[in-house]
Amino acid sequence: MTLPKNEAAIDTEKVLELASHIMTALSNCSLYSQEHPAVLYLAGKAVRLLDDLYSDDTIILIVLGDSLIINNVPFSEKSIHLNNLIKKLRRKGIEKIVIKKGITPEEMKTFISEIVSSEKISSAHQHISTGIVDVRLKAEGENVLAIMDENIARVKEIHQGASRFKTLDTVGLEDVVISFISTLKREANVLRVLSPVKSYSEYTYAHTTNVSVLSIFQAESLGLKGEILHEVGLAGLLHDIGKIYISKEVLEKQGKLDSSEWTEMKKHPVYGAMYLSTLADMPALAVIVAFEHHMKFDGTGYPETRRRGKKQHIISQIVALSDFFDALRTERTYRKALDVPVIAGLIKEATGKDFNPLLTENFILALKKIKAL
Ligand SMILES: [Fe+2]
Ligand SMILES: [Fe+2]
Repeated sequence: MTLPKNEAAIDTEKVLELASHIMTALSNCSLYSQEHPAVLYLAGKAVRLLDDLYSDDTIILIVLGDSLIINNVPFSEKSIHLNNLIKKLRRKGIEKIVIKKGITPEEMKTFISEIVSSEKISSAHQHISTGIVDVRLKAEGENVLAIMDENIARVKEIHQGASRFKTLDTVGLEDVVISFISTLKREANVLRVLSPVKSYSEYTYAHTTNVSVLSIFQAESLGLKGEILHEVGLAGLLHDIGKIYISKEVLEKQGKLDSSEWTEMKKHPVYGAMYLSTLADMPALAVIVAFEHHMKFDGTGYPETRRRGKKQHIISQIVALSDFFDALRTERTYRKALDVPVIAGLIKEATGKDFNPLLTENFILALKKIKAL
């Protein structure tokens, strides 16, 4: 079999070494600063390694799911550094990098520091440019709800593909989170991004989607950006994943749960955390939030733990608030949907007991800013 011209030319060792230098430079950048001498030194080494990868004076890198395509040829070799680099690029929303011959260590250093920062990659580089995911959102006049409908369909597909014995398409969920973050950038009024529930069977998917969007909204209003914001979105999306272990009869029961059914239902946070902790590449935050989202600010709630004095993680507190808000604004078979001012009143009432006062104040202020209150 004859290999395509480019595949024969790709030096596996050099690509893995390149990924390792870039990842080390990225860590130095976030631990110290882009001015740390190691960053420029590693950027220089990376630039020298690029020399053997050019095809017609250009290198085109494409991030596709959790793999890389170099000059149109899939690169199948894996390493921890390469996996982490692909993940970093995906979370930054970068799906394509074009490098032109002549790139300097200084340019590479600036590019690396931009990957670490929460700002966009500059388009002013002479020899390096990037393409961003979510071209869909740039289409003029595209309806936000249509985008969210599509996202719910993806969440449903991914949830149904997951089971207690199968793994979860984390990459697919990460794409959904990237889309939520961009959608919220375009439509500041979070209430217009939330989706109404169309049928009972769709409830779980619309609910997890809404909790993710509301949690990103709260986190952004607190000033969180970049990778942590992405992790908050993912944690929101997965907070109820433990429900895949709860029987359908309990989950979809129309009336009130009896005490044994309720005991079963209350296990979903533990199941969720256990399930997520078995998945490679799952951020610890998603595991913590799945475990803690029914705990309360005053230490009550479930699951009960013996960690006396240990407080619920602040991101779990954010997700718990989103969970409460979405559950009440959604019409269910046994009650009508509540209006935002009524929900805000209930949130205020539960402040200090169920919810962190700083978070409720921030949430209500953020809702007022977008004139939702
Ligand atoms: Fe839950
Ligand atoms: Fe929930």
